[in-house]
Amino acid sequence: MAIKTGKIDISSELKQNAELINGVISEAVKGFDGIGGRLKEAIEYTLGSPGKRVRAAVALWCCQVVSGDINKDAQTAAATVEMVHTYSLIHDDLPAMDDDDYRRGKPSCHKAFDEATAILTGDALLTMAFELLATKISEPEKVVEMIKTLALAAGPAGMVAGQVDDLQAENGTGSGDDLHNIHMNKTAKMFSASALLGAIAAGASQDQKDLLGQFGLKMGLGFQIADDILDVSSTSQQLGKTAGKDVKQGKLTYPGVFGLAQSKEKAQQIAQEAIELLKPFGDKANILRELIFALLHRTK
Ligand code: IPE
Ligand code: IPE
Ligand code: MG
Ligand code: MG
Ligand code: MG
Repeated sequence: MAIKTGKIDISSELKQNAELINGVISEAVKGFDGIGGRLKEAIEYTLGSPGKRVRAAVALWCCQVVSGDINKDAQTAAATVEMVHTYSLIHDDLPAMDDDDYRRGKPSCHKAFDEATAILTGDALLTMAFELLATKISEPEKVVEMIKTLALAAGPAGMVAGQVDDLQAENGTGSGDDLHNIHMNKTAKMFSASALLGAIAAGASQDQKDLLGQFGLKMGLGFQIADDILDVSSTSQQLGKTAGKDVKQGKLTYPGVFGLAQSKEKAQQIAQEAIELLKPFGDKANILRELIFALLHRTK
C-alpha cells in the first residue's frame, strides 16, 4: 500500500485495506484463548461480516502519512478500532436501541443469535480491543496513550454519550446544536481516535496529532451526515441495513433539521475544513484527501 504519486484509486485502496485488516482481525481473534461455543460463533459472525473498514483505513493511512509506512502497531490499532465500532453496531441494532434486524447485508447479531448473546458479544469485542492494545503494541508509552485515546472516544463522554442523546432525542424537537453534539459524540470521536491511534503508532509529534485528531473529527462528522442522507435517499438492499428508519423513529438527523440540499452543502463544507488541516502534510496526505470525498459520496 505504497503512496502513489499519480491519481489515487481510492476504492481499490479501500478494498486492499479491508483485506489487510480482515486478516489482522481474524489472526487477532485466533490468539484469544478460552473463547468458545455460541460467543465465539457470534464474534466471528459479526467481525467477519462485510464492514467497509473505513475507521481502520483512517488509522492505517494516518500512520502512513506521518511515517511513510504502515507499521504493525498501526495494524493492531486499526483492528481494535473496528472491534469497538462493531460492538457499537451490535448494540445500536438491539430492540432497546434502533431495533434493526439487518446489518452489513445479513441478519443483525440479535437476530442471527439472540439478544443476550448480542449484548455479550458487544461486551466481549469492547474488552478484547483493550486487551489487544495492552498486549500487542510495541512500546509501553504507546500502549497507555492508545488506551486512553480509545477509551475517551468510545466511553461516556464519547460514543456512549452520543448514543444516549441520540435515543433521548427521538421524536423531539432538537436544535442544530443538539444534532451537532450527538454526531460529534456518537461518530466523530471514534474517527478522531482512529486517526490518533494511527498517528501514535507512527510516533507523530504533538502538532501532528493535534491536526490529525481534528481532521478525524471533521471527517467523522461528515461521515455521519452522509449516513443520515443515505438513510433517506438509498435502499435497504444497497445499504445492507434498513433504509428510511430515521424518519420512522423520529431521529434527529441532518436532513430532518436542515433538509437534503443544505445537509449536502454542510458535508461538503466540513470536508473542505478537514482538507485545510492537512496542509502541513503536503502531498503525502493525498490519500486522506481522496478518502474524505469518497466517504461523502459513498453509496453504502
Ligand atoms: C455505521 O458505520 C454507523 C455510523 C456511524 C454511521 P459504517 O457505515 O462505517 O458501518 P460498517 O462498518 O461499514 O458496517
Ligand atoms: C450509529 O448511528 C452510530 C453508532 C455509534 C453505532 P446510526 O444509528 O445512524 O447508525 P446506523 O445507520 O444504524 O448504521
Ligand atoms: Mg443509532
Ligand atoms: Mg442505527
Ligand atoms: Mg444511520
